[in-house]
Amino acid sequence: MQTSSNRKKLVIGNWKMNGSSTANASLLRSVLPVISRFESVEVAVCPPFPYLTTVADLLDDSDVSLGAQNLSSQLSGAHTGEVSASMLHDIGCRFVLVGHSERRALYSENDDLVAEKFAAALRAGLIPVLCVGETLAQRQGGETEAIVTTQLSAVLKAVGIQDLVKGVIAYEPVWAIGTGETATPEQAQAVHRHIRQWLADEDRAAAADCRILYGGSVKADNAEQLFNQPDIDGGLIGGASLDAMSFAAICRAAEANPTTESIAI
Ligand code: PGA
Repeated sequence: MQTSSNRKKLVIGNWKMNGSSTANASLLRSVLPVISRFESVEVAVCPPFPYLTTVADLLDDSDVSLGAQNLSSQLSGAHTGEVSASMLHDIGCRFVLVGHSERRALYSENDDLVAEKFAAALRAGLIPVLCVGETLAQRQGGETEAIVTTQLSAVLKAVGIQDLVKGVIAYEPVWAIGTGETATPEQAQAVHRHIRQWLADEDRAAAADCRILYGGSVKADNAEQLFNQPDIDGGLIGGASLDAMSFAAICRAAEANPTTESIAI
């Protein structure tokens, strides 16, 4: 069945634990004049926590949104070192990354905690960007679809399909993150397609509207081919988002492929 969709491309820069007051200001000074000219792509950047408010000020006159890289699953109270969803909302964040593979692998975040964080983000009015993806061993073992489905299912079970699709999904194969090795457009499309089909089994219209980003060594020279795929609605960009020219070129590639065609699901 043909279901029409009108998904605006989205490019999110994940600065990870990089930057300084000076470096952030200089990066945004170079990149904002270029990306502010784009109309059919939505852009966001996710700086480390200490810089969120100053970056919010720097973004003030632009259409670029602010995102955070992590949040607490808890509402408030005695949780030393944690940052709540409502605080992020309060200082102007629109997005928050949830379940990035570095959080899962290095900070022991499991599917249940990721689902709690996703729900906490939604409750506070943030848009959670749910990261899913397989390791190299899992891909080689033919487990990619099963892993991604398990990660998504934990959130579906916690919040239901209508709330799941209020977020954004980012497919990020772990073997492609920060390695310079990118999934081919066909490999990425196949997993995006699987995710959209899985969503469609729950709710066809919700699946058609849900944005699914690709992340993992997206660069200026591979972005266009990736963004050209019918189920790839933009990118979550790590390393290349720290370089003004590269990030601008990636946003331009998204602008060149503004909406994804209708697809059969
Ligand atoms: P990368 O990171 O673009 O440096 O591979 C992507 C990510 O971790 O979100």
